[in-house]
Amino acid sequence: MLHILQHPLADHAITHLRDRTTKPATFRTLSHQLGLLLALDATRDLPTRSHAVNTPLEPHTGKILAEGLIVVPILRAGLGMVQPYLDLFPEVSVGYVGLERDHQTAVARSYYCKLPPLAGKRVLCVDPMLATGGSAVQALDLLREAGATELSLVVIVASPEGVAAVEKAHPSVPIFTAALDRELNAKKYILPGLGDFGDRLYGT
Ligand code: PRP
Ligand code: URA
Repeated sequence: MLHILQHPLADHAITHLRDRTTKPATFRTLSHQLGLLLALDATRDLPTRSHAVNTPLEPHTGKILAEGLIVVPILRAGLGMVQPYLDLFPEVSVGYVGLERDHQTAVARSYYCKLPPLAGKRVLCVDPMLATGGSAVQALDLLREAGATELSLVVIVASPEGVAAVEKAHPSVPIFTAALDRELNAKKYILPGLGDFGDRLYGT
């Protein structure tokens, strides 16, 4: 259930995102571009229903989206991936899950959760970094407990350890990523990775 984005623009954007000299303004633009490409990839199987319109020339029956969509960023870095959904989907709701990794233990602590009704909707949990997988598994647990049935996880960089953790805890959840990196270092940062995404996104 791992989908790795295949697009030359994604390769281009992620290479610049990794570059330590990339400044926050450019980092935000590149995150938005990757978020957009991933949003298209992660929603290509959304259900549609037929819809009749009149073109200026004749009647036509086409397709429109059958249902709304819910995007749930994991705060704070996940916020950098939300705008593409707001731009693309007329009927989108946004929920929030706040999780922060402890710098010593790398274990995530929950500090905020605000979710719309989730039952029967496609729910996309977005967070740029899937490292140990602890944050993603906690967020997916929360979303399941809150009633989500159709869940996907969308990240920009994944580690093999993070993918394995999510696949073990939530085997039915597809993971969409722009890159699958090599490994984690001793401090549980992704290698080659791009450092601390939230700090680089917000210049902290
Ligand atoms: C980062 C990232 C993920 C998490 C990934 O967030 O955005 O949420 O780490 O690591 P994991 O897979 O080992 O749990 P962080 O906790 O640094 O918080 P931030 O977004 O507020 O910077
Ligand atoms: N969080 C990040 O922002 N980067 C990593 O490499 C791991 C967790």
